[in-house]
Amino acid sequence: ARPDALPRDLVGRRVVVSAGGTREPLDPVRFLGNRSSGRQGYALATVAAQRGAEVTLVAANTSGLTAPAGVDVVSVGTALELRDAVHAAAKDADIVVMAAAVADFRPTATVDHKIKKTDADPDPVALTRNPDVLVELVRDRRPGQVVVGFAAETGDAGGDVLTHGRAKLARKGCDLLVLNAVGDGRAFEVEDNAGWLLAADGSERTIPHGSKAQFASHVWDEVVHILSKEAG
Ligand code: CTP
Ligand code: CA
Repeated sequence: ARPDALPRDLVGRRVVVSAGGTREPLDPVRFLGNRSSGRQGYALATVAAQRGAEVTLVAANTSGLTAPAGVDVVSVGTALELRDAVHAAAKDADIVVMAAAVADFRPTATVDHKIKKTDADPDPVALTRNPDVLVELVRDRRPGQVVVGFAAETGDAGGDVLTHGRAKLARKGCDLLVLNAVGDGRAFEVEDNAGWLLAADGSERTIPHGSKAQFASHVWDEVVHILSKEAG
């Protein structure tokens, strides 16, 4: 949709969106990372601003994307930096959307010089768990604040995509979980997207195939719906 054709239903709302993939340094030149491009988070931030929200975008590595118009961008590197930035911005936010791919683990130690190879085999990399920012946001949630999580799942022996998504929604305790099916090149590093919206009240909607901007519009429609229920 053209921006001027979008509803102005987020006017007066403060929104925080995290996007991109965190990078966990091993030494000054190397990191553990992931394939998140940040495009979906950028689309969410862009559409929220077009619908009238005041948007803070906490951007982990986002492969050269340019800041959306009218959006306040805070750049971060690691999961711990992202956590601090998101919590600071969430303090007076009405809606927090965790679209970032946050590293589950970080190297236990970061070496302050470039690690050199020797003739010996390297030591294994020791890892430490990162905090779960989404769970912390839910724990610290202000009354009326809407917290949205994302999940990209594949089916496996433990269940299909929806089964994993429902379990994750319950585990995280967020108001809404945006669920993507991945595999076969879907969702990661591609322009199109499709998935499900799983709400805490048990309601489930599918998101049809479309652009990331259209996908973002479906997410905001659902958030506005949740806010209207809380108000009513
Ligand atoms: N998330 C987070 N902090 C983390 C890890 C994840 O805030 N340390 C958020 C993500 O931004 C996303 C949601 O939690 O909104 C789900 O992330 P995901 O990686 O799917 O969940 P995990 O609990 O890490 O489960 P998995 O074992 O499937 O990776
Ligand atoms: Ca994870």
